[in-house]
Amino acid sequence: MTTTSRPALGAPAARIESREKVTGAARYAADHTPPGTRYAWPVPATVAKGEITAVRTAAALSLPGALAVLTHADAPRLSPDAEPDLAVLQSPQVSYRGQIVALAIADTLETARAMAAAVEMEYARQPHDVTLTEDHPGLHTPEQIGVGDPPDRVRGDAEAAWAAAPVRIEATYRIPPLHNHPMEPHASVAVWEGDRLTVHDSNQGSTRVQQTLAGLFGIPPEQITVISEHIGGGFGSKGTPRQHVVLAAMAARHTGRTVKLVLPRQCLPAITGHRAPTIQRVRLGADRDGRLTSVCHEVVTHSSTVSEFVEAAAISTRVLYAHPASRTTHRVTLLDVPVNSWMRAPGECPGMFALESAMDELALAAGLDPVELRLRNDTATDPDSGLPFSSRHLAECLREGALRFGWHDRDPRPAVRRQGPLLTGTGVAAATYPARAVPSTAEARVEPDGSTYTVRINASDIGTGARTVLAQAAADTLGVAMDCVRIQIGRSDLPAAPLAGGSHGTASWSWAVVKACRALLDAIPRGGTSATADTTDDINAAEGKYAQQAFGAQFAEVQVDTETGEARVRRLLGVFAVGRVLNPRTARSQLVGAMAMGLSMALLEDSHLDPAFGDFAERDLASYHFAACADVRGIEAHWIDEDDPHLGPLGVKGLGEIGIVGTAAAIANAVHHATGVRVRDLPLRPDTLL
Ligand code: MOS
Repeated sequence: MTTTSRPALGAPAARIESREKVTGAARYAADHTPPGTRYAWPVPATVAKGEITAVRTAAALSLPGALAVLTHADAPRLSPDAEPDLAVLQSPQVSYRGQIVALAIADTLETARAMAAAVEMEYARQPHDVTLTEDHPGLHTPEQIGVGDPPDRVRGDAEAAWAAAPVRIEATYRIPPLHNHPMEPHASVAVWEGDRLTVHDSNQGSTRVQQTLAGLFGIPPEQITVISEHIGGGFGSKGTPRQHVVLAAMAARHTGRTVKLVLPRQCLPAITGHRAPTIQRVRLGADRDGRLTSVCHEVVTHSSTVSEFVEAAAISTRVLYAHPASRTTHRVTLLDVPVNSWMRAPGECPGMFALESAMDELALAAGLDPVELRLRNDTATDPDSGLPFSSRHLAECLREGALRFGWHDRDPRPAVRRQGPLLTGTGVAAATYPARAVPSTAEARVEPDGSTYTVRINASDIGTGARTVLAQAAADTLGVAMDCVRIQIGRSDLPAAPLAGGSHGTASWSWAVVKACRALLDAIPRGGTSATADTTDDINAAEGKYAQQAFGAQFAEVQVDTETGEARVRRLLGVFAVGRVLNPRTARSQLVGAMAMGLSMALLEDSHLDPAFGDFAERDLASYHFAACADVRGIEAHWIDEDDPHLGPLGVKGLGEIGIVGTAAAIANAVHHATGVRVRDLPLRPDTLL
C-alpha cells in the first residue's frame, strides 16, 4: 500500500482501469463467453408497417448447428405491461422497418447469421409515412416533454412584442435524424439457472435493466443479476434497457443455454434510438440596445407510433436569457419510424443550435458584437420559473473564452478574411444544461486491516471515468489516499443507483458515496465497520429552491475553401461553469469529447429516412459519417472555478453533455463570418457554401 499526501479530490487521477483497458484485459459484455455459449442473430422486418402473415424457418433450422428460431408465434411471453418498445416478438404487428421479427440461435455466430438470412417472412403491408414536414396533418401537442416540462409555454404577448421590436429576426433551422453509434454495440450474454437470470449487458445503468427484466419476466429483481463492468460508450442509446437484453434473456430461457447477442452495427439505428429530426422556427425581437423583448421558438419533430418521445428543443430557450415575453412550443408527428430516444443532450443540443444561430443573426441585425449581445441579456433569475440560479457564470465563461480565444478587435464583417481560395471566420455560442441529482444508495465499509476501505454502489462507467472519480470522492471524505479505497460499481447486486445519463451520474452517485463514507466515519468509533446511505430525502429537501444549470461559452474558428466548399474547423475553445471539477483529466476528456461530437454534428452527421422503404439510409459507419482525428485539430476545454453551495455535498453540476451544446452553432456562426453564407440546415455541406 502506497500513500500520498496529495489530496484525492481535484487531482488529475488516471482511470483506475486504464491499464486493463489499454492492454485489452478489461472485459466488456460480449467478451464473456462461458463454455457452451450459443449465439443469436436478429432478423429485421423488411416492411415499414404491416403484419406478419407467414414465417418459414425450415431452411434456417436445417443448417448444421442450428438451435432455434424465435418468432412472435413461439417466443417466451413477456408481461402484458411491458413497455411497448420492449415487447419484442410478442405480436405479428410491424410498426417500423428494421423492427426485430425473429431471432436465430445457433452453435456459432456464423451459423446464427446464416440462419437469420434463411428465415422467410411474409407480410401484409400497410401504407407508411416516415416524412416530417412543418405542416403535417398528424401534428399534435404532447402532454409533457420531460419531467414536469410542459410542451408549450407562453409568457406575455410574444407575437405582438416581436412584431413591434425595432430589431428582429426570423429564421427556420433544420437538423436531420442523428445516430448515437457507441463504439461498443449493444450486447448481452444471458443464462438462466432455474428461475435465476444472470446477464452481462452493455448499458448506462444496470439497476434499471434489472428492474425492467424483473417486470418483463415476472420474477423478483433479486433473482436477476445484471453485470456491466465496462461499457464502451452509450451517448443515451444505452440509457434505457434495450431489446437486445430482452432478446438474449428470452433466447437463453427458450434454449436452456447461455446465449450471446451482439446487435450488428446495421441494426443499431432502428433498435437503439436516435435523435429525432427537428424543424425549428425562431423569432427574436430586441430593442435598439440589443435587449431581448420577445423570444419565440417553435419546434416540430417526430416520434414513433410505438412509444412517444419528444426532442424537447425549446426548453433551454426558456432559461438562457432575460426576456419579458416568450412563446416556446413543441409539436410532434407520430410517424412509422423507429423509436427515437435520448442522444447526448436531447433537446438542449438541437435546440441551442437554433437559438444560438439566431442570436448570431440578431447580433448582426443589431450591429452588436455577438459576445456583447449575450452579456446584455444575462439574467440572475430563471425567466421560466422565476427562481434564482443556484449559480450562474455564463458571463464569466463568455469573457474568459473571448480572452483565451483572442476575440477582441474581431472585425464583424463577413467574408473579408481571404488568403487565396481560403476564407476564415470566427463564431461564438452559449451553452447551458440542467444540473440535476437523483436519489442513489451506497455502502462504505472498512476492511479488517483498518486502513483499507471498500465502497459499493451500482454506478456505471460508460467511458467517463466514473469509477475513478467516485474513488476520489470516497478517499477525500475518508481522509485517506485514493489507493486505500476499493470501489465496486457496475453490478445490479450492488446498492441501487441511477443510470449514467442526463449529466447527473457523478452528482447523484458522489452524493451517496460521501454520505455513506461520512456515516462510516461516525460508526467506526462505536465499533461499526460499515454504513449505508440513501439520498432520497436529501435530494427531495433540496429541490425547488433554485434553478440549477451548468453554463458555457463555445468559440470556433473555421476555414472554408471557396473552390471545394469544404469547411474545416481549425480551433474550438470552450469555457464552462460546471460546479466543482472532481478530476480535471477525466473532466477535460468529457468536455473535449462532447465538443468533438458537436463538430461532427455540424460538419458531417446526417441521416435520411427513405420515404419509399421507410428505413434509415445510413445504417453503418461507412455511410453515417462522423468526425475522424484529422477533422479535429485543436480543441481546448477550460472551466472557471465555480463554488455552488446549493448543490450536493461536493458542489458537482455534471459535465457529460454541456460540451456538445452550442458547438454546432459556434461553428455555423463562424462559417457565416467566414463566407457570408448562413447555414440553417445541418450538416454544413460543401454545396451550400459554394
Ligand atoms: Mo445522456 S443522452 O442523458 O445518456
